[in-house]
Amino acid sequence: AIARRLDRPVVLVGMMGVGKSSVGKRLAAILGCPFVDADEEIEKSAQMTIPEIFANYGEDYFRDGERRVIARLLGGNSPRVVIATGGGAFCNAETRALILERAIAVWLDSDLDTLVERTSRKDNRPLLKDGNPREILARLREERRPAYAQAPIHVVSSSGPHVNTVSKVIQGIG
Ligand code: S3P
Repeated sequence: AIARRLDRPVVLVGMMGVGKSSVGKRLAAILGCPFVDADEEIEKSAQMTIPEIFANYGEDYFRDGERRVIARLLGGNSPRVVIATGGGAFCNAETRALILERAIAVWLDSDLDTLVERTSRKDNRPLLKDGNPREILARLREERRPAYAQAPIHVVSSSGPHVNTVSKVIQGIG
């Protein structure tokens, strides 16, 4: 029933490590629609990895590419899609406005320990390289909260299995 009513893309926003991609994939499978990872799309269109984009061109350039990629993903005529965004996407005013206008934004939040644990599994986040990851995550989480809070749906992702979070998202959008 949810799947039939869904007439806009579902866009997952929230901090690095909260599980946007994992939850997004499972959610898309349940809804029977495609899943797209915006970070992967940026890497494809730039033909570079995200750390390379940051290192060679800087964050502003990355944000610009991120906005264009998300605009393209939301501009297609298939509304049935689940999109995971990079953690900073929804904190860019233009990108946020675009998402709020064309999609259902779902803010996935979790406690700091969970973010620290999940981001430590992969070494692919340039913003965590220049200092203590826990401190950086704590600061970004506070700074970004007002932006994330503009998403109409809030879901707390606990440290447990992602399926629990997926159910909460489905309740939220249903
Ligand atoms: C970023 C999060 C990353 C990626 C880039 C910047 C951020 O995505 O877009 O490293 O500003 O929070 P994930 O949230 O998927 O890690």
